[in-house]
Parts: sequence; C-alpha cells; structure tokens
Amino acid sequence: MDQLVIEGRHPLKGTIRISGAKNAALPILAATLLTGGTFRLQNIPRLVDIRTFTDLLIDLGVTVDYSTDNDSDFLNIDSSGLSDHEAPYDLVRKMRASILVLGPLMSRIGKARVSLPGGCAIGARPINLHLKGLELMGAKLRLKEGYIEAKAGRLKGAHIYFDTPSVTGTENLMMAAVLAKGTTVLGNAAREPEVIALGQMLNQMGSKIKGLGSNTIKIEGVKKLRPVDWKIIPDRIEAGTYMMAVGAVGEELIIEDILADHLEAVISKLRSTGLQIEGDNARISVRKKGALHSVDVTTLPYPGFPTDLQAQIMVLMALAGGLSVITETIFENRFMHVAELRRLGADIKVEGRSAIIKGVKGLNSAPVMATDLRASASLVLAGLAAKGTTTISRVYHLDRGYEHLEQKLAAVGARIKRKKAYLIR
Ligand code: EPZ
Repeated sequence: MDQLVIEGRHPLKGTIRISGAKNAALPILAATLLTGGTFRLQNIPRLVDIRTFTDLLIDLGVTVDYSTDNDSDFLNIDSSGLSDHEAPYDLVRKMRASILVLGPLMSRIGKARVSLPGGCAIGARPINLHLKGLELMGAKLRLKEGYIEAKAGRLKGAHIYFDTPSVTGTENLMMAAVLAKGTTVLGNAAREPEVIALGQMLNQMGSKIKGLGSNTIKIEGVKKLRPVDWKIIPDRIEAGTYMMAVGAVGEELIIEDILADHLEAVISKLRSTGLQIEGDNARISVRKKGALHSVDVTTLPYPGFPTDLQAQIMVLMALAGGLSVITETIFENRFMHVAELRRLGADIKVEGRSAIIKGVKGLNSAPVMATDLRASASLVLAGLAAKGTTTISRVYHLDRGYEHLEQKLAAVGARIKRKKAYLIR
C-alpha cells in the first residue's frame, strides 16, 4: 500500500485549481441510468471512487468512455444497453455510494438487487430512510443474503419525511420520483449543493422538480427523460481542505475554480481563526497572518459546517492558541483521526460526540495511518505543519476523494512525495 512522505514546515505559496466534486459526480453518474442516449459529462474528477462507479455502470451494461473535445475532457455515458440490475457486494462494500443505483433502476426498470452497504469506519450509516421512501412509493422490498431485492411496477408519488436529512437518501428518492405516477414530496430533505446540482440536471433532462436547496422538495413525475450534457460543480470539500492547509503551515494560496457560495460556513469559521480570506465566487486568496485563534465548531447538515471538513479543522485547532471544542453531530464515530494526531503531539480529548483540543506550540513528525478519506486529509495537513518527516500509510483512502493531491501541494511548495509500496510476493 502506498505511503505519503511529507517533510514539514514548508509554507505554501501559489495557486491551486479545484477539481470537480466527487459527491456531485457520483449521483449524476447514477442518474444516467434513468434514460438511454448519450450523456456528455465534464469536469468529472479522476478518482478511485469515480472509477469504481463507472465499473459498476459497465457491469450493468452501460457504455462508458472518455473523449477530449478542444482540450476539455468528457465522460460519455449511454445506458441504452442496460442489461442488469444488480450492485454486487464487492463493489458496494468498497464504495457505499453504489446504493445510488437503487432509485434510478427502480424508475427505469422497476427492479434492483443492491447489496446492503455494511459497516463503515465513521459510523453505522444505515440506509433505512432510502428503503422506507421506496416502500412508500410502492416498491416491494425484501432482504435476502445481504442484498435488498426491490420490485415495483411504475412507482407512485408519495409524501416522504426524512427523520434526519440524508444526502444520498434525498438523491436516491429524487431519482425514484422523477418517472413515478403523480407527485412526491420529500420533507426534511438535504440541501447540499450536490443535491441541488443533481436536481438541476434532472430538470434539464425533463423532470419537474421544485424546492431544490430548501428542506421540502416537490417532484412531479413525468413519462420520459432525455440525456444531457452536464458540467460537474467544483469540490467544496477539496477547496476547504486546501484553505485549511494554509492555516496549518502558512503562507498564502490562491484557490481557483471554486464556488465560494458553497463555503460560507467554512469561510466564516476560518476567518474567525484569524485567516485572511478575500476574493470572489470563483477565486479566493487565503493568507495566514500570525498565530491562529481557537474556535468552537459543530458539524451540521448544509448550510452548516460540513462534517467532511471536521478532521481537517481539528488540525488547525491543535495548533491554535487556546482551547476549542469540536462537536460531530452527523456521524457517531468520526474521531478516528484523533489518535493519529495525538501521535504527532496534539493535545486532544474525546468526550462522547465532542473533542476538546488544547492548542500546542507545534506538532512533531511520526509514522501515522489513514483510517478514512477525510481523516487521511487531516493527517496530510498535520504532516505539512509537523517538524521533521511524517509518513502516512494506507493513503488509498486519500485516492478515493482527492485528485492529484501530492502534485497540487508540491506545486505550491510542499515537500511531499508518494512512496510506492510494492507487495513483496
Ligand atoms: C454523504 O453521505 C456524503 N457522501 C458523505 O461524504 C458526507 O459525509 C455525508 O453525506 C454527510 O454530509 C456522498 O455524498 C457520496 P447521509 P451519506 O445519508 O449520504 C443517517 C465523503 O467523505 N442516515 O447524509 O451516506 C446517517 O447515519 C463522504 O465524501 C440514517 O440514519 O450521508 C448519518 O448519521 C463521507 N438513515 C446522517 O443520516 C439513512 O437511511 C447523514 O447521513 C441515511 C442516513
């Protein structure tokens, strides 16, 4: 398994361009199952999770190929040849977002056999709300050998209320509702930009969805949809991660190809730590002037502070000048990075859903291990700040969600390189 080797304390200076958002691309890839014909998708990030998803689509009989048209990359997808309806355990196990094929398959062919995703490092992450919504729309579900077997004639519109806002739950049920008979209302729906982007593409395909971005989404079922060209929105979590890299090690970065409107909670919080953030919606500068102030953070569904940046901001608080409390309200086990940060000298105590962080003068390098995608990003930030050389193992976690991370950081002054670990046969 590859490792990242980082020589710390080299301040960053330069420009980083943000890639397309993984969590916008995945539901949009699933939505190509809703109708035959060619979708031309642009700004799809080259990530392991995207590859896993396109492998799943190919297994279902979908044609997938990359093309370049006056130096823009396109991912072309055509599900006319859809010939299967199963998302196998070994794919869903690797990437739980595979469950996003459930809604579109139920809409297109009225049947699906999808492996239950199983456990995940950051929490139980059940899919009960996805399944309850499908049943309310008339699907017959049964659990057999770890698979959900779903059958339905044409789904019918229903009023579905989410106990808690679920991003992929909202996305799955939106895709189940677009071809249903009648109107579906999703109450307490997720408001994330990635959910809005999916809904906007579905509307361009001929759907009738209203209320995107609010917590009540109304979908009037239609009979037919058509394929479209679509550009994936920038990755707000990748952007937030690089903004926090400036907080970890200084000095200044220009972050391009973003939508700063998607980062209001993050920008506001980072400004209160003392980082100077200026610019417009598509391009911002982040500058570190002096020591960071300690702030408290509570993760919340959008538009609150995103859980996917919790591990990263913890690194900044580990280096700030006082005491801060970070409360994780979305997932029940998303503090695995704490033990690793402690190995680097951070002073952090976990009490239930909160971590209490006492800022220290500096971190010191040590070998550490990534446990999940965003925890590994926090270890990179810590490595950039630590005195000495930090080695991070199991970086396959990182490759799932960050396109060309070490290249982007090395280009702005980080001393970071990947050590290929060859399997000794
Ligand atoms: C999406 O996961 C993201 N993944 C996650 O990003 C992100 O952390 C999460 O939303 C929260 O923002 C993708 O978009 C592919 P949820 P998702 O359903 O949809 C509970 C990353 O690092 N819940 O919004 O799986 C659940 O347990 C990943 O890119 C139920 O109880 O998250 C959690 O406590 C990590 N029953 C809460 O809702 C359900 O049926 C929010 O989960 C569904 C969810």
